[in-house]
Amino acid sequence: MDTFIIEGGHPLSGEISITGAKNAVLGIIPAAILAADSCKIENVPEIRDVEKIVDILEALGSTVSMKNNILYIDTSCVLNYDCSNFVEETSKMRASYYLLGAFLGRYGQAIVPLPGGCNIGDRPIDQHIKGFKALGASVVIEHGLIKIKADKLVGTHIYLDVVSVGATINIMLAASKAEGVTIIENAAKEPHIVDVANFINMMGGKVTGTGTDTIKITGVPQMHGCEYTAVPDQIATGTYMLAAAVTGGNVLVNHIIPKHMEALTAKMQEMGVTIEEEDDGLRILVEKPLTACAVKTLPYPGFPTDLQQPMGVLMTIANGRSSIEESIFENRFRYVDELRKMGADIQVNGRIAYFNGGQPLSGANLTATDLRAGAAMVLAGLAAEGISTVTHVQYIDRGYEHIVDKLTRLGAVIRRESQAN
Ligand code: UD1
Repeated sequence: MDTFIIEGGHPLSGEISITGAKNAVLGIIPAAILAADSCKIENVPEIRDVEKIVDILEALGSTVSMKNNILYIDTSCVLNYDCSNFVEETSKMRASYYLLGAFLGRYGQAIVPLPGGCNIGDRPIDQHIKGFKALGASVVIEHGLIKIKADKLVGTHIYLDVVSVGATINIMLAASKAEGVTIIENAAKEPHIVDVANFINMMGGKVTGTGTDTIKITGVPQMHGCEYTAVPDQIATGTYMLAAAVTGGNVLVNHIIPKHMEALTAKMQEMGVTIEEEDDGLRILVEKPLTACAVKTLPYPGFPTDLQQPMGVLMTIANGRSSIEESIFENRFRYVDELRKMGADIQVNGRIAYFNGGQPLSGANLTATDLRAGAAMVLAGLAAEGISTVTHVQYIDRGYEHIVDKLTRLGAVIRRESQAN
């Protein structure tokens, strides 16, 4: 297990390029199973979760190679829909559940271990299962495995009881190969849902309405390979925007879609951060003391839950009493204990955290408790006076491409120490 050593207090400056969205690519790669053909996917981030899903698909018979953020995947030889041997891999990532929708679509069957991922609260998959059953599949959960089978998938109307990113994508995957039309109502609208649908359509699928809460999927009997470029990562973008702000820096975050950042941009501007749009980038500048604000996490286009932890670090710096209400996951404030070690004054009352900001953070020994909390720890270390260490950085590696190199290029003083040293 590696550790990051960070010397805080250096304002970040320069330019950073963002690569493809983890949560899009982790849907797109399994979606390639539906094509039974070769696909070229550009802008794929070099992160652990991508490596893991690729390992699984290779072991099941796909041919995969990746170089310079371009992934080639040929799923013509995938013959095995049984992923029960991959408990180790699937237990550490949420997106392994997309193997269910993809295999169900291609073979009418799937066996996948229950998904893992960050421990941020109760994460049921009842809406995924409801969708698969509505399409005509039987679903059994036994010995930690989800077993799904359908003689025939038939399009239908599915109303999601909660707005779920994973269930929306999973149903899109399976329904793309169903007979007839499927309508998903109360669908999630995140940019990565639009991106996975665009990829399905490039393979010959027919998905419309993504980005709204009603998605229509017309099943097709056959799909084919394609070339595709993944959408920039909204959460990595936001993390680096906040990294610039917490260090009082001046950074151009490039190769992004500024529209996807509106919820964060609005809140950072409210706090006093200067944000300038430049072509496909946003320049983040701190020119005056920051002030408090209130944030509530919501499904897109609301404030993303995946950015609330890095946002919490900015709130420790801004003058006054800020608050975050977490409405998506109930256990996403574990990171505040780490920030308290740095002198932060934070109270948590149920799903709301109050940040009495304005006091400098001091370097401390920190633990990354999950992926986004890990990113928050890095930001806190960059902002703090003195040296911080961040352990359990394997969580951060799951979703942030070459974070040490990228921050170093922006002037951060950060290094990675492996346990062997
Ligand atoms: C995805 C993202 C994650 C992000 C989250 C919310 C991936 C791989 N992960 O996770 O980074 O934080 O969206 O934007 O894309 N729920 C149910 N039943 C279900 C499914 C979800 O009750 O069947 C609930 C969850 O407990 C949660 C809410 O719905 O309260 C949203 O969850 P969902 O959008 O499904 O999140 P994930 O797909 O797990």
